[in-house]
Amino acid sequence: MTTTPVVGRATTTAARATDLSKIYGQGETQVVALDRVSVDFRQAEFTAIMGPSGSGKSTLMHCVAGLDTFSSGSVRIGETELGSLKDKQLTKLRRDKIGFIFQAYNLLPTLTALENITLPMDIAGRKPDKQWLETVIRMVGLKDRLGHRPSQLSGGQQQRVAVARALASKPDIIFGDEPTGNLDSRSGAEVLGFLRNSVRELGQTVVMVTHDPVAAAYADRVVFLADGRIVDEMYRPTSDAVLDFMKQFDAKGRTS
Ligand SMILES: Nc1ncnc2c1ncn2[C@@H]1O[C@H](COP(=O)(O)OP(=O)(O)OP(=O)(O)O)[C@@H](O)[C@H]1O
Ligand SMILES: [Mg+2]
Repeated sequence: MTTTPVVGRATTTAARATDLSKIYGQGETQVVALDRVSVDFRQAEFTAIMGPSGSGKSTLMHCVAGLDTFSSGSVRIGETELGSLKDKQLTKLRRDKIGFIFQAYNLLPTLTALENITLPMDIAGRKPDKQWLETVIRMVGLKDRLGHRPSQLSGGQQQRVAVARALASKPDIIFGDEPTGNLDSRSGAEVLGFLRNSVRELGQTVVMVTHDPVAAAYADRVVFLADGRIVDEMYRPTSDAVLDFMKQFDAKGRTS
């Protein structure tokens, strides 16, 4: 399916970074991890963030997701400026509006798959939308594993629990830092397929950091970072086109 403009409905920005900089350390040891990055993540769009190791991908994601502070610039989730929030409000915003999928699945070992999936909502005191929960569980194919604990699940199944957990509360935006990095290619393809379906069919917004051109090809758009700056972007990426583009970084070598 190609993206066609939706007539009569403005494309809404789910998250936006403006002139975002993040500097670690001081003096000699100072590292500019992000150098005045401006980027929009539109609603119902699947964006991949790529770039060499150390280019600032995780830092960008963590700053936009409200998991890390930044040195200057601004970040908006929906209409909310993160810089204007107190710690408590930020925690609440993260809980209510943002879903996370990390490479380490971050599942609680003592809880079942289902309990892990609904945990963020339980903590927030929110009742899961039952029908939605069933849809998500069906989509990730965990129906007959719901009573299992993480240790009784394969890596791919654990990652699917993490995906379901991120989707279950219908967050405005889901961030994933190499969400398929630990998976074999088949499990990885499944998880990426769910993410793409959640964008196409459910209007979910997804931002994913990846090193893998095949994974990036599931996205609607790839944003390329190098040395803390956005250097290019690509719409409707194919793995070949992404691979080609990444070659220039290898040719130049790393600066750090
Ligand atoms: N806590 C920290 N203290 C000092 N420097 C840091 C810290 N975290 C990250 N950096 C530096 O900031 C830069 C960007 O790091 P970041 O983790 O965002 O890169 P990345 O693109 O996610 O890399 P990778 O692909 O290896 O995960 C790097 O040069 C890194 O060394
Ligand atoms: Mg990283």
